[in-house]
Amino acid sequence: MARNLQASPQWERIQQHWVTEDSAVDLTSFKSDNRNYNIALWSPEANGVRYLKTFVYNLAIGLGEADWKRLRNIRNRDIGEPLTVRVDGEPVCLDYLQAVQELGFIERQVGLGGARVLEIGAGYGRTCHAMLANHDAAEYWIVDLANTLTLSRAYLREVLDEADYAKVRFVDVRDIDQVLEAPRFDLCVNIHSFTEMTPETVQDYLELIDEKCAAFYVKNPVGKFLDRKLDGHFKGREAVEEALSTGPLRKVLDIFDDQAVAAAVPDYIAAYRPGDAWECVADARGVPWSYFWQALYKNGDA
Ligand SMILES: C[S@@+](CC[C@H](N)C(=O)[O-])C[C@H]1O[C@@H](n2cnc3c(N)ncnc32)[C@H](O)[C@@H]1O
Repeated sequence: MARNLQASPQWERIQQHWVTEDSAVDLTSFKSDNRNYNIALWSPEANGVRYLKTFVYNLAIGLGEADWKRLRNIRNRDIGEPLTVRVDGEPVCLDYLQAVQELGFIERQVGLGGARVLEIGAGYGRTCHAMLANHDAAEYWIVDLANTLTLSRAYLREVLDEADYAKVRFVDVRDIDQVLEAPRFDLCVNIHSFTEMTPETVQDYLELIDEKCAAFYVKNPVGKFLDRKLDGHFKGREAVEEALSTGPLRKVLDIFDDQAVAAAVPDYIAAYRPGDAWECVADARGVPWSYFWQALYKNGDA
């Protein structure tokens, strides 16, 4: 019986370039080089988007009913061409997937109907968008750097309806007196940004939160990483040094070691407590990241 068991053109090429006849000469690191990247694993460097989408897909199919409801309530998520997967007909990107999980955590502790919310470092505004799409908050103040405010102002103008957009107040950090002179806020939010500010700036913001807010939600890393394999230090050495010097939690740890992360949590809870009267009423891993933590504090003086 004639058989055709020859390598396909695809495998001819692989054998010529990567799984060559010398493949077994040195096995030291073959699982992390082009030999295995043609066998059991895709090169993480070349397939970043594929891995990201796989990650998002797995998170999306595991979302609970309440998170799906929150997500469906948020319109115009497609603006800006996010990297999405499609589950049950719904496009899902990582930014809003996180936003609904963060919102779910906050909702369990703080009533958001009629609330006055202050966010410090809002990025393009995904948290504001998610919150206003799901709750009838009274006002949403964003304190940020001038350039980022330009972005959040333009984005939220596009995605929010007229009534919700009118609730948003954009405050340049140079105009922080506006916040100091405003009535108290029911909630302050900080997600992935205190970790990128100087320790002195974080201290000043914590004092402001102590003075002006009744509750505080924070989601940030518990420490720093230095493993070059994780990001190739692609922004250069100076950027690495800058990143290591910011935030109140600067200890380097193995961010994919759950015991190392757990050991860093008490310092995290202490570092982000705005003042003596504040109590941490809930905390958990800052999903989906291995080394982020989220905590909600309430002000006993409020
Ligand atoms: C990594 S982004 C996170 C954005 C957003 N919270 C999110 O998770 O999508 C960091 C944010 O902190 C802001 N930021 C940096 N330094 C700041 C400062 N000194 N005061 C207020 N915001 C600051 C940046 O402009 C940006 O909006």
